[in-house]
Amino acid sequence: ARTAARGLATDADDVLVTTGSQQALSLLATALIEPGDTILVENPCYLAALQAFAFAGARVVPVPGDELGMDPAALDELVALHRPKLLYTVPTFQNPTGRTLPAARRAAVAEVAERRGLWIVEDDPYGELRFEGERVPWIATYPGAEGRTVLLGSFSKVMAPGLRLGWLRAPRALLRACAVVKQAADLHTPTVNQLAAARYLADSDLDAHVAKVAGVYRERRDAMLSGLADALPEGSGWLRPEGGMFVWAKLPEGYDTGALLRDVVAHDVAYVPGAPFFAGAPDVSTVRLCFVTQGVEEIAEGLRRLRRAFGG
Ligand SMILES: Cc1ncc(COP(=O)(O)O)c(C=O)c1O
Repeated sequence: ARTAARGLATDADDVLVTTGSQQALSLLATALIEPGDTILVENPCYLAALQAFAFAGARVVPVPGDELGMDPAALDELVALHRPKLLYTVPTFQNPTGRTLPAARRAAVAEVAERRGLWIVEDDPYGELRFEGERVPWIATYPGAEGRTVLLGSFSKVMAPGLRLGWLRAPRALLRACAVVKQAADLHTPTVNQLAAARYLADSDLDAHVAKVAGVYRERRDAMLSGLADALPEGSGWLRPEGGMFVWAKLPEGYDTGALLRDVVAHDVAYVPGAPFFAGAPDVSTVRLCFVTQGVEEIAEGLRRLRRAFGG
């Protein structure tokens, strides 16, 4: 019902409940990828998706993009060149960059997928955590995409990650293949957890909860954005996410955030170095900063420590 309300008519038979959306990625990798197959990803890309595809023996090719996300023209060229099995994308408040693909590019991605015959895996764990701006419809809703898009959802970011509850919405034949793979993986997602979530959905207002959480996250994002200019070395830049959990920053040339992490941690603060998120040549001057776990005061203190760590 929640999916239908957001533009994709869906009933229970269209959906496979998965043990987190991470399992959906593993199931798809097993169902769709033969060793040596090419798949396309955003650059940078969600790290654990890269791992799932690598374990399946895929050759992972990054699609170039900019601060708005992947470039559909570059996608078109790469599909023609590599004949990939699938495109994996997190179009809304992406992990790690926080960026959101605009509607026109979503339509263009859908058009490329239909014309070239490509599966799209649209992973959307963060989409409901919007603090401002208009919701952008799923790629799956654009002409040509629905029959070839697998939409992944999760309760991890809006209800509780420990429940390990996600879902996969796919055309029937692929859904059946994933169900067979899932039987080999874990037979089924724990029914006790599913019943707990169903009870929560029946008794509580998840939308009200998400709105409340998003309000808090918005304050935390703003606290982080307002302190970054002081905390990061001069010449750094960063993206301003309209929702989600992450700010992506780029330090000036010459900074290697992976090499610096040991010194930074000695100041009792940490970040996630950006390099491992790249499928191709890494940009070692990038970092992912999470703004949802700590409160506004802690974020301010963390940024002060970061400033000291960078010698400021
Ligand atoms: C883009 C993306 N996909 C999938 C997941 C996995 O989430 P879960 O398995 O908890 O649903 C995450 C978690 O961080 C994520 O960022």
